[in-house]
Amino acid sequence: MNNTCFDVIIIGTGAAGLTVALELADKINATSPKEQTPKPSIALISKGPIQEGSTLYAQGGIAAVLDEDNDSISSHINDTINAGAGLCHPERVKYTIEQGKEAIQWVIAKGVKFSHEAQTDDYHLTREGGHSHRRVIHAADATGKALSDGLLAQVKRNPHIQTLEHHMVVDLILSSNASNPKQCVGIYLLNTKTDKVTGVPAKFTILATGGASKVYLYTSNPDSSTGDGIAMAWRAGCRVVNMEFNQFHPTCLYHPKAKSFLVSEALRGEGAKLTLPDGSAFMHKFDEREELAPRDIVAQAIDYEMKRTGSDFVYLDISHKSADFIKSHFPTIYKRCLSYGIDITREPMPVVPAAHYTCGGVMTDLNGQTDISNLYAIGETAFTGLHGANRMASNSLLECLVFARAAANNISLELKDYECEPLLPAWDDSRVTGSEEVVVVTHNWDELRRFMWNYVGIVRKNKRLLLAKQRVKLLQREIDDYYRQYHINGDLIELRNLATVAELIIDSAMQRKESRGLHYTLDYPFKDDKKFLHDTVLVPENYS
Ligand code: FAD
Ligand code: SIN
Repeated sequence: MNNTCFDVIIIGTGAAGLTVALELADKINATSPKEQTPKPSIALISKGPIQEGSTLYAQGGIAAVLDEDNDSISSHINDTINAGAGLCHPERVKYTIEQGKEAIQWVIAKGVKFSHEAQTDDYHLTREGGHSHRRVIHAADATGKALSDGLLAQVKRNPHIQTLEHHMVVDLILSSNASNPKQCVGIYLLNTKTDKVTGVPAKFTILATGGASKVYLYTSNPDSSTGDGIAMAWRAGCRVVNMEFNQFHPTCLYHPKAKSFLVSEALRGEGAKLTLPDGSAFMHKFDEREELAPRDIVAQAIDYEMKRTGSDFVYLDISHKSADFIKSHFPTIYKRCLSYGIDITREPMPVVPAAHYTCGGVMTDLNGQTDISNLYAIGETAFTGLHGANRMASNSLLECLVFARAAANNISLELKDYECEPLLPAWDDSRVTGSEEVVVVTHNWDELRRFMWNYVGIVRKNKRLLLAKQRVKLLQREIDDYYRQYHINGDLIELRNLATVAELIIDSAMQRKESRGLHYTLDYPFKDDKKFLHDTVLVPENYS
């Protein structure tokens, strides 16, 4: 990167990263002097291939009030707050939902294509759990791919944005200026092809690094969801909030070859039923909204029934709908299931819950600003107050869009007040050697994800949390030793971050001595509004 100082470094190329990059480029371009070939002032970094991340795999859609004759902002607000089980921040919910329509119009203007009602210009709106109206705009069952393809095409032709794939950010660099040590001035960046680390300066840095569901053995998420942004922000001195609320999606395909394949909630929105292996329905026993109850309720019900009956899965059945309807609304799911020998137009599919979404994250304000100056967090990495104790379906992509646009706006107003810090401390690897013990890293990856699934999963207990805490402490010591002795690589960096995030989840879960939303514990099976109607805020030692 030749010591270029960027105006803004964006870490992450999902919905949040792509949106903030395009909005910033437009705003910086509008205010800077016209050059024939402008120099890129925005770096957009991904640790793997540019499109890899949760966004690419998003299925159901984006929630927003688009049919104002039948739906309303207040209804979307109420549904979100109900799903959030008492912990949503009402002013953040209102803000996000009020921006929904404009955000969708922005995305459409960037060229993203959504599904229409048959033979009309109207967009088809689907329904998902917790929503009292049809309000989810989508591109069949591959909304994330349509969004990523559309935004990325714009990014690629924008001269202000330099993209950089296969580069993993290791840590944030804070200012060495004693008068303002809590300012982010750049990043340490690992080239994952050469394993070389360099310091890259920037006036502003944005974490758009996605969630941390990879901390669990079974997940709907791609390999990139290792909580890097949350761990880096925590190490740098940011507060982290509500990490006990991990969302488990009720329906991932249960098949030995189907790694991480989600079966969209939109199937239940269009009438699919959950049944036990004997064919009997069970959701009516748990909630009057049955299959369309919020996700925490459906996932806990499935977990309960699987444990009660000793079954490894339950079934999801949409075969009562016409084959044409299924193939046109859910082409990706239809084809993928068929490739495993399951024809969902004729038979039910076996499904299980899996870790899906990190409701907690880095504390941010309405503009995405964190506790550290010039450091922003947006998208799944951030805690904005929108989701409370349980995120409602399709509110995540909405949050990515709304807060990315707010962050871009705010940064563009502040840019002129900052200069780059000229000299960053060099990455020091003079005392490390090449490792001959790579097995330590692979073994610890597996162990961490297994005990998080078994001890800190859908149903929790004090005793299991304590065991998990002891295990994670032990792993952290081994990882730190390894980090100090050997050259780093991508696997080690991700493992280090996962261990940090695991500890944050365990500590938050230990603090919440009640059951609420996505946090369910057998030791305190009920909600306790008197003591716990508040966020779980973890404060790092270096917070000031
Ligand atoms: P991501 O899209 O996950 O992108 C993260 C980016 O950060 C990647 O580019 C990655 O390379 C980069 N990165 C991470 N760490 C580093 C590092 N250390 N250095 C460099 N780069 C790094 N939500 C909805 O609202 N509607 C849906 O229909 C929906 N369906 C979903 C289906 C699936 C299967 C999944 C997994 C999620 C779904 N979600 C849905 C959730 C939603 O997709 C995600 O919350 C959202 O896409 C997150 O976007 P993001 O930009 O924050 O992060
Ligand atoms: C899905 O399509 O079921 C995922 C939607 C979401 O996570 O918001």
